[in-house]
Amino acid sequence: MAADMVFRNATVIDGSGGARLAADVAVTDGRVSAVGEAPLATREIDASGLILSPGFVDTHSHDDAAFIRYPGMEFKLAQGVTSEISGNCGFSAAPHDPGQPPRPDDIAGRSADWRTLSEYFAACMKRRPAINNAMLIGHNKLRYMASGMEKRAATADEIARMRGWLGQAMEEGAVGFSTGLIYEPGRYSDTGEVVALANEAGRAGGLYATHMRNEGERLLEAVDEAIHIARESGSKLHISHHKSAGKKNWGGVRASLAKVDAANASGMDITLDVYPYTAGSGPMNQYVNLDHIDVEWAKHVLIATCPDFREFEGMTIPEIASRCEWEIEEAVRQVITGPRGKETICIHFIIDEADIETNLRHPRMMIGSDGIPELNGQPHPRLFGTMPRVLGHYVRERGVLSLEEAVRRMTSMACERFGLAGRGLVKEGYRADLVLFDEQTIIDRATYKEPKQEPAGIRMVVVNGEVAMEDGRHTGAGAGRMLRYGKDD
Ligand code: ZN
Ligand code: CU
Repeated sequence: MAADMVFRNATVIDGSGGARLAADVAVTDGRVSAVGEAPLATREIDASGLILSPGFVDTHSHDDAAFIRYPGMEFKLAQGVTSEISGNCGFSAAPHDPGQPPRPDDIAGRSADWRTLSEYFAACMKRRPAINNAMLIGHNKLRYMASGMEKRAATADEIARMRGWLGQAMEEGAVGFSTGLIYEPGRYSDTGEVVALANEAGRAGGLYATHMRNEGERLLEAVDEAIHIARESGSKLHISHHKSAGKKNWGGVRASLAKVDAANASGMDITLDVYPYTAGSGPMNQYVNLDHIDVEWAKHVLIATCPDFREFEGMTIPEIASRCEWEIEEAVRQVITGPRGKETICIHFIIDEADIETNLRHPRMMIGSDGIPELNGQPHPRLFGTMPRVLGHYVRERGVLSLEEAVRRMTSMACERFGLAGRGLVKEGYRADLVLFDEQTIIDRATYKEPKQEPAGIRMVVVNGEVAMEDGRHTGAGAGRMLRYGKDD
């Protein structure tokens, strides 16, 4: 029987971390059907000189609403991303209460009409998404549903309700529970509340993914809290976008990784992810205390999205201040206190370049873009560039890790960790999520000034056996699926 598609003379990096091998790879009915010698196929693809690997997994995304709003998911697909984990940093589109007034920055978006994870998945599938999606359930969302923006620890009754929603979502296929403990309202929780919820996810096999309470001066305390939560709740721990933020704290990731190593050596199960950039990004009002505006910090802030002042998008706070003849403090105040000020997204340069390499060298480190899919404005370039930047800059140009190892972290390791069954290897019987790329030319092209540029060096991306992108052209195949924990969906 002829295969649907065969890659001839490919150099296969299969995602296991093992050495590359020369092989033909066949795809039939959405799965890899042969590796080595392959039969004739309806479509023959000359892969000589190119690497064929499993599709990449973005372990840290915020694309919950993007699956509804931008189902073509071009910014991820063009990077070779075929699956991703949404619902990070405590913000998830499901569960959802359509009857509740949405918070201005609700990741579900204003038109969300679903309640459960299953209903959200169904809404996504109706849009025929280009790539696969798996979901964490966010603490900030559960808390908003239980007690709005209350600035206090949750009551026993509220915790019980949050557990109920989370437990149902886990049954419907969520891969775990996420927190964003610097954000509202999650920051008002005490550790016990988080332990209770992490336990609910852990009982179903899911993991606890955390944007920790502090990523700067008190990073080590925050790591201790995360480890304590994992130990008490019995859940696996995943530390999101690991960093030591703020110039005076640079280098701090070494001590933090040492804590992770010690905990793992004592029998715990901790992994992490990182994005390959020295700037972070997020909702600006959440980083600012209006009574004490940090001028030093503000000098290194770039505005990504600002509905009240579109003309500021792509400008730094000092540029805005000088154009408008404002003090730095006044510029900060203006952009976050207008009618839609809470929707302002900023990019802030807070990370040490050397820390990125330290992170990437760590064997339990995966890659998560943390991209914010707001295409109006000037998003952080990580939205478009993360995976090729790791492979082109950190692997090829800097030699920080081998290509085989980088691919393993982006594929089989991520699939295993987040329970994406039947994916992450170029192996007979596995789902045909594949990337064909040139290891000599793959590179990100998105920059802070021109962030919406697709990367170079990626020839083809296949999702569930269908060609989704080829030579820079998005085919609109729409073959993505919603992935449930541990199920070969
Ligand atoms: Zn985060
Ligand atoms: Cu995030």
